[in-house]
Amino acid sequence: MTIAAPPEQLSDAARSFLQNSHHDLLIGGERTGADDGRTFESLDPATGEPIAVVAQAGMEDVDRAVRAARTAFEDGPWASMSAADRGALIERLAQLVEEHGQELAELESLDNGKPVTYAKVVDVGSSAGHLRYFAGWPTKIEGEVIPVRAPDTLCYTRKEPVGVCGQIVPWNFPLLMACWKVAPALAAGCTVLLKPAEQTPLTAIRLGELALEAGFPEGVLNVLTGDGETGAAIVDHPDVDKIAFTGSTVVGREIGAKAGAALKRVTLELGGKSPNIILPDADLDAAVKGSWLAIYFNSGQACNAGSRLFVPRENFDEVVSALAKQAEGARVGPGLDQQTQLGPLVSAEQRDRVMGYIDSGREQGAELVVGGDAALTDSGGYFVAPTLFSTDSDDLRVAREEIFGPVLVASPYESLEEVAQRANAGDYGLAAGLWTTSLSSAHRMAAMLRAGSVYVNCWGLADPAAPFGGFKASGIGREHGHDGLDAYLESKTVWTAV
Ligand code: NAI
Ligand code: MG
Repeated sequence: MTIAAPPEQLSDAARSFLQNSHHDLLIGGERTGADDGRTFESLDPATGEPIAVVAQAGMEDVDRAVRAARTAFEDGPWASMSAADRGALIERLAQLVEEHGQELAELESLDNGKPVTYAKVVDVGSSAGHLRYFAGWPTKIEGEVIPVRAPDTLCYTRKEPVGVCGQIVPWNFPLLMACWKVAPALAAGCTVLLKPAEQTPLTAIRLGELALEAGFPEGVLNVLTGDGETGAAIVDHPDVDKIAFTGSTVVGREIGAKAGAALKRVTLELGGKSPNIILPDADLDAAVKGSWLAIYFNSGQACNAGSRLFVPRENFDEVVSALAKQAEGARVGPGLDQQTQLGPLVSAEQRDRVMGYIDSGREQGAELVVGGDAALTDSGGYFVAPTLFSTDSDDLRVAREEIFGPVLVASPYESLEEVAQRANAGDYGLAAGLWTTSLSSAHRMAAMLRAGSVYVNCWGLADPAAPFGGFKASGIGREHGHDGLDAYLESKTVWTAV
């Protein structure tokens, strides 16, 4: 098995990480290969070349990690640590993520394909911010004294950590999705089995190493690299108390069903087909710029991508041609190139899935305005040109299903009532957006749209304090803020006769 030499422009830190011949699991504070010795390769999506050999955790490894996490949860220094010290450890991890920001951004770009310039700000910057926000929570987790009816009775609640958490994350924002999950779990006092996606394991491995360096006790954060089999072994393990998952709706349904049968706690953050609506009174320049980023940022591989655009019929041609012009001038290239706007898709499988959708759009009669082809095919990478379809129909697969690539489907509409109804008609409800200069239209429509986040004159904003999650088939539960923390806490009611 030959691993490609690290690209020349990488920092020494990223190079030295990649020069390790094997990347091990992290179980109970120890770096270790898989029990059965299995490994897999992670690829550079810009070239299709392998860049790292990574341990593939099996059932034995999952079981060992669950035992380490259970011991850390019940008996270790973590279990008796003060809330202030727990917060300080999370803060230290945030600092280490920041200090290693360049290295982490380069590894993310190389492993996922995304532009390194965005990875630095969005992926790494927001990861540190997320950890830092949750570092403040442990000292603010408070129970209440309840004014019960019974005389001579003290009744109070304690907020206690849920326990051992399996956290399964996807490949589109690998480090950030790991931090979205790990930070609230650690703040609550839980212990964690983190499973990154098989396409992008590198930054989770690095996060585990940084957690050791920060001083987290052994067994608190275990990192199990592997694929869906590893994920399923975590979900199926009887001694895991909670599963948090971000990924496809198909796998989310399966995990939800298993969690239901075992009565495990579960948080699911799934797919989307998010409507982006330009109202007749919108600032069209701002709407075009924002709608462009809403879909093509991260090459469309975002759960909250604004993938379904609705434009008043009288503005339709103008908006579509402005977007097409921007698509034609967009720089598609390797993520490590500082000029790149759209990197490759994460894998050949994902490129083929997206190309399959593009073919179906053509076959089902959508008008292809721009793009529609694989790009930079000589590179060996998984590039797809930014693509724009126009159609009057809401029934085509490209208009209804999540594509998860740089493909926008635009449709004209006549009235606000009609567009609100069409925007709410699909299976998903993760996000929706509006472009308008009217305050009352903004708030009226924001109330009408069935989505977990509504963006008005912006798209995709996120903050660790602001809840994020989906209505309908886009998931169950919320991440971030109080809601996100509560998902890792149990309430215990204590009754005392006094
Ligand atoms: P996926 O849902 O199969 O993978 C996501 C994570 O789940 C990975 O860590 C994977 O190893 C794990 N996993 C897979 N099967 C599992 C199982 N049976 N039990 C437990 N864990 C399992 O998603 P995939 O195949 O990578 O992408 C397929 C589609 O899913 C994309 O085209 C996109 O539409 C959607 N997706 C949505 C994401 C989001 O942010 N909501 C992120 C990634 C994918
Ligand atoms: Mg990779």
